[in-house]
Amino acid sequence: MPDAATDALKTLETEGLAELRACADEAALRAWNTKYFGDKGLMKAAFGKIGGVPKDQRAAYGQEANRVKLALESAHQIKLAEEKEKKLQASLTANPLDVTLPGRFRPRGRLHPATQILRQISGIFADMGFQVYRTREVETDAMNFEALNMPAHHPARDMWDTFFTTTPGVLLRTHTSPGQIHVMRETHPKPIRVILPGMCYRNEAISTRSEIQFHQVEGLAIGAGITMADLKGTITAFARRMFGPERQVRIRSSYFPFTEPSIEVDIDWPKEDPNRDRLTKGTGWLEIMGAGMVHPHVLRAGGYDPAEVTGFAFGMGPQRMLMLRHAVDDIRLFWQNDLRFLRQF
Ligand code: DAH
Repeated sequence: MPDAATDALKTLETEGLAELRACADEAALRAWNTKYFGDKGLMKAAFGKIGGVPKDQRAAYGQEANRVKLALESAHQIKLAEEKEKKLQASLTANPLDVTLPGRFRPRGRLHPATQILRQISGIFADMGFQVYRTREVETDAMNFEALNMPAHHPARDMWDTFFTTTPGVLLRTHTSPGQIHVMRETHPKPIRVILPGMCYRNEAISTRSEIQFHQVEGLAIGAGITMADLKGTITAFARRMFGPERQVRIRSSYFPFTEPSIEVDIDWPKEDPNRDRLTKGTGWLEIMGAGMVHPHVLRAGGYDPAEVTGFAFGMGPQRMLMLRHAVDDIRLFWQNDLRFLRQF
């Protein structure tokens, strides 16, 4: 060495690099690659010549050929990367992209406030061992009234303005209380600890304060030796988780046909709330639910023996609680599906 064959390799290298430098775009680079490294390319031809090289120079020739091959390959790769980068820069300046622009807003669904509060209430009672029991919205007179200690023509029926269906004796439930009978009949004689959330219907004039449909959450506990103290403890625990750990609970005597004695439960409204006076009509106390000890007639209607078990029940309106908590002054907003309202929760 040097000899004619290795000189040819050197020339191949010099020319290859020069031609590579002259390539102006990716297409030219591709053509170059075919010319040098294609099946019929110059590099392959150079390797093919090895047979014609005198024996004692073959190894050197082979080494040199490999060196040239690597040199050309790596130069090609570098040039190709440069071309790609040039192309990217060109497209970035041609279509400038403002990376400081805020991203596109993707609307995300959320839970309706009624669902939110139902879940919250269920969560609080679940922690106290209450299970959720769902029952029907279309009820019979027998369940909605009679089994709850209101025979036909009982004056207390007037407390619930009822939607009747065209089928005699079938109506839309006016409260979740008939669910009590369903759970009892299904569970007796075992003890019960459930809440019964669900939609109720009343044939009332719609106003800011009353809707024809609304949720209730009923509660029922049946077992040996259950007393009013259990009711009070349960309600107090609930009120403090729902409305704040400082809340005081006040119990007033009341009347419901399905409980004896019956009570209404008030909580002291937080002094910090600017709406306190308006909400509580100046008293500082606000009613949150009706409740009582399950009437013996009702226990019997559910299949239990009042000589063996007692129980308590309560019923509350989650929409009313939402209104109190968020100072909502129109109950109709809950079912109007106005997103401006719903998005606030
Ligand atoms: N059902 C009653 C209503 O709709 C609420 C109620 C009061 C439920 C007392 C009860 C209860 O379980 O014990 O007004």
